[in-house]
Formats: sequence, structure tokens, C-alpha cells
Amino acid sequence: MARRRCRGCVIRVRYNGEVKSESCRIRRFVPGDLDDLYRVCLQTADNGQDGTAAFADPRLPGDVYAVPYALLEPSLALVAQDLAGVGGYVVAALDSHEFDRRLERDWWPALRARYPEPPPEVAVELSAQERFALGAIHHPWITDPALASRYPSHLHINLLPRLQGRGYGRQLIAALISGLRSKGSTGVHLHVGPANQRAAQFYRHIGFAELPGTTARVFAMPLQP
Ligand SMILES: CC(C)(COP(=O)(O)OP(=O)(O)OC[C@H]1O[C@@H](n2cnc3c(N)ncnc32)[C@H](O)[C@@H]1OP(=O)(O)O)[C@@H](O)C(=O)NCCC(=O)NCCS
Repeated sequence: MARRRCRGCVIRVRYNGEVKSESCRIRRFVPGDLDDLYRVCLQTADNGQDGTAAFADPRLPGDVYAVPYALLEPSLALVAQDLAGVGGYVVAALDSHEFDRRLERDWWPALRARYPEPPPEVAVELSAQERFALGAIHHPWITDPALASRYPSHLHINLLPRLQGRGYGRQLIAALISGLRSKGSTGVHLHVGPANQRAAQFYRHIGFAELPGTTARVFAMPLQP
């Protein structure tokens, strides 16, 4: 086991890739983490801030932005766990087009039954975040072919405030990129909410580039072998 110092705490890097610090470790997702994924996703679902007040059904954001990835691509799902429990995760799709197809076949149909599309007079009463998530279920976006040809993989990352700003976001992304590379990915992209300036600066700082000319805010990184 190798040892190194990081921000004042001892980090132990095991040869199986698991990263441990005195208070937090990064490990593979296991099915028992599902409730934690729902909770972390909800508590970061308002442009990185707590989205609890924005969702009548607390599972809605997790059902769209986190859980399908962990269930359909578990080998690319990692969690950060400290003594208080799981407080962060990164999830990803290796091939975004293939993932779109799998969602359409294996995931959206059940969600369309669980979360019926609201009629316009009901939709206006919902939060913008709820409308967006319901729109993704009933009218899923298809990954832009030009984007997917250069950056076929995509990711979502979220950490609760107690784990933010301590290097775990960087560690989660580094571990994920290592996994994507080993599976042959040539690039990874992600979307950032327009109001989430902090996340945009984080991505830029760790080596992602913002792509010009896209309507949504998209960051990407090529992955050389
Ligand atoms: C955005 C997020 C994933 C970043 O993870 P984090 O653990 O807080 O960031 P880290 O501590 O790993 O920071 C890594 C590096 O980025 C830098 N960084 C982080 N945020 C930054 C910012 N807003 N501006 C400039 N640099 C920043 C850090 O200084 C650090 O630099 P260093 O490693 O060179 O010393 C995390 O804060 C988070 O989950 N926020 C809430 C949910 C969210 O917004 N998710 C993203 C949705 S798109």
C-alpha cells in the first residue's frame, strides 16, 4: 500500500485502485448505495444547491440524473463515503448514444408510468427543476452526434457540502477517467446548469474545455490512450 500526503491528511492508495483517506474513501458503487444516490442527487439538484424544496417527489432527480447510470453502468459508478455515510458520487455512460437507446428501452417506460406527463395547467405550478426532469423522461434529449463522435462518454458528479472543496471531486473524476480510458473511451463530456458557475470553474480548473456554440453549457475533455 502506497502512502502520500494530501491537504494535510494521509491518503492510502491501494493497488486495487481504491482511494482511502482518514475520513473519506472513494469506492465502487454497490446496490446498497441506491438510497444514498437519490439523497445526494436531491440535495444538489438545484444548480449544485439543495433541491429538496424544488421537488414534490424526492426521487425524481435521482431517477433521471443518477440512478439509471449506476444500475445500467455500475462499473463506471463511484461513491465517496465518510464516517457520516455516502456523501458524493460520480456516474457515467461509456457510449452516450448506446446509453440513450438503453434508457428508451429499459428505463424511461417505467418512469413514464410513475411520473405521468403533467397537463399544461398543472405544469405551470411545478418548479422549473421538476419541469426539466419530467421533460427528460417524456421527451428525452438525444446526444448530439457531433459531440458524441469526439466525446462519446458523459458523466454526472455531485458531492454534498461536507465533502466539497477537499479534493474529492478531482479524485472522483480522475478515477472515472481512468476507468473510461481502460474501456477505450476517446473523450468525455458533461452539461452544466447555467447558474452553476462554481461547477463550471471546477471543470475548467481540472482540464475540461467549454465547447463554444452549444445552446446548453457543455464541457468536454479528449481522452488520449
Ligand atoms: C463541483 C464539485 C463536483 C467539485 O468538487 P470538489 O470536491 O468541491 O472540488 P475539489 O476540491 O476536488 O477541487 C479540485 C480542484 O478544483 C479547484 N476548484 C474547485 N472549485 C473551483 C472553483 N469554483 N473555481 C476555481 N477552482 C476550483 C480546487 O481549488 C482544486 O484545485 P487543486 O486540486 O489544483 O488544488 C462539487 O463541489 C459539487 O459536487 N458541488 C455541488 C454539486 C454540483 O455542482 N455538481 C456539478 C453539477 S454539473
